[in-house]
Amino acid sequence: MTAGAVFFVCVFVEILQNYGTICQDFGYDGTEGPNYWGAKYAQCVGKHQSPIDIEVTKAITKHFPPLVFSHFDEPIQKAFLINNGHTVQMKINSDPKPTIKGGPLSGEFEFAQLHYHWGQNDTVGSESQFDHHTYPGEMHIVFFDKRYKDFTEAGNKPSGLTVLAFIIIIDEHDNLGYDNFEDGLKDVIDESANRTFNNLDSLSDLTRPEGERSFYYTYEGSLTTPPCSEVVTWIEFTNPLPMSREQINAFRKLFSKNGPLTHNYRPIQPLNDRIVYFNGADSKLPMSHLTTVLIIVACVYNIF
Ligand SMILES: *[C@@H]1O[C@H](CO)[C@@H](O)[C@H](O)[C@H]1NC(C)=O
Ligand SMILES: *[C@@H]1O[C@H](CO)[C@@H](O)[C@H](O)[C@H]1NC(C)=O
Ligand SMILES: [Zn+2]
Repeated sequence: MTAGAVFFVCVFVEILQNYGTICQDFGYDGTEGPNYWGAKYAQCVGKHQSPIDIEVTKAITKHFPPLVFSHFDEPIQKAFLINNGHTVQMKINSDPKPTIKGGPLSGEFEFAQLHYHWGQNDTVGSESQFDHHTYPGEMHIVFFDKRYKDFTEAGNKPSGLTVLAFIIIIDEHDNLGYDNFEDGLKDVIDESANRTFNNLDSLSDLTRPEGERSFYYTYEGSLTTPPCSEVVTWIEFTNPLPMSREQINAFRKLFSKNGPLTHNYRPIQPLNDRIVYFNGADSKLPMSHLTTVLIIVACVYNIF
């Protein structure tokens, strides 16, 4: 097959599989690495890419309406976990799906999938940075605008997607909300391996309780993997997701076809003409208080 034909098949498979379940035509190293994505995926060299370095003092405080989370507290009846060669992804195969509306969003968005980013060691792994600091990992929960049929259709529409992002930090205790999930990770070590769950922990268990999801930064950006579509409203919560060292290590034990999947974070991209907003609605704390907590926690655990 010629390179052109391979590319065509890849794109086609990607569309079918909601991005990269099968096709391994991008990676994080060498000629498959982020610096080369633009050659095959033009949008990856766009002007509104993600992730970014959020400069806390430059964010504009704005009072958005409250975020409204639906079905975040209920156990997920049927979940599907897959190692797609780039990350471990969880989809939900039962109804009703969790949804989100409010905040910076116009309309209601439905859960599509969630996945994680991590690094070779605890000093790297998050995609987003806060004042140039990186963290050991980041969780992304991807939603699509319900005006559209599905993730694929919304992925071509302006503001068609939103991603809820949580920075992962190291805690001395295991995060008990991840007991079942971690058990599932052991079954998806190899690329394309998958497993199903009945009654997986709720999205609130896998993130933070609702009361801890009101402070966030938001900006317009892109998917952080090819095709890097600039259709994403990012919502980056300031309250981090704690996990133990062992729990973060479990992600590093996954494999892609090319070997151990030790890291899967994209470097930060220029902000260019964009504005980052900080949601200060019902804020009882100064703007950067929680980010300061993040940084202090990170210092205590010596990850800088
Ligand atoms: C962690 O990994 C990064 C990326 O490979 C590397 O630059 C850094 O030196 C490593 N840090 C430690 C403490 O091993
Ligand atoms: C899930 O894994 C099984 C093998 O364990 C495989 O036959 C099946 O095709 C996989 N499903 C997906 C969607 O990758
Ligand atoms: Zn992601």
